[in-house]
Amino acid sequence: MPIFLDTASIREIERFLEMGIIRGVTTNPSILLKDGVAGGIKSVKAKSIEIAKMIAPYPLSVEVTTNDPCMMLQQACDFAGWANNIVVKIAIHGPDGELENLAVARQLEEQRNIRVNVTAMMSAQQCFLAALAGATYVSLFGGRVNNMGYNSCDEIKKLRKVLDDFELKAKIIVGSTREVLNVIEWLEAGAHFVTVVPSLLEGMIVHPYSKETVQTFLADAAKSKTVPKSG
Ligand code: E4P
Repeated sequence: MPIFLDTASIREIERFLEMGIIRGVTTNPSILLKDGVAGGIKSVKAKSIEIAKMIAPYPLSVEVTTNDPCMMLQQACDFAGWANNIVVKIAIHGPDGELENLAVARQLEEQRNIRVNVTAMMSAQQCFLAALAGATYVSLFGGRVNNMGYNSCDEIKKLRKVLDDFELKAKIIVGSTREVLNVIEWLEAGAHFVTVVPSLLEGMIVHPYSKETVQTFLADAAKSKTVPKSG
């Protein structure tokens, strides 16, 4: 099932879980901040445990909040201990292009048996290398790719082809949704999952012409109660 919810809002997660249309949740430090998670790691832990429990056995991605390799390893082990369905997000590289992150990802996957989602990627080539390092998930930021003037669908197609050709286990998550259309177009291009912000998921369901049609049906049903039976 291909849709994750990109949020830390319990209300939104409940709403879409109940509808049966999401199969996982992704967060990042900006999403947590926007959804009111303040107070550092203690609050991240409380919120993550709450979400992980709600959505189990579906995965919850939680991102490390440091770029120091030893601290990333330590945090990743802590996060993974909070719940079985937590996947740890590690950025493709540090804020200044530091290259230790993929080694951290590999160590977590191979030696600690922790599932890693390598994140903040803008190209198929970055995702390919993260997949070679052993990541379970590779996150391409489709909306940001488009905003830079590149075509996210082209990157997804290329990436899916090399992952399949080389039989790599990594699954592609495309995030950074900006338009309702993104979900279908990215899945069609080859994404295994699209992680969607709640407002866009709602936009996929509600259509003005469907509204009008339902209004007509309900109005006619009401009228038929007052029309005498013929024959
Ligand atoms: C998901 O894993 C990403 O963190 C998220 O979709 C990024 O979205 P943004 O580009 O809107 O910040």
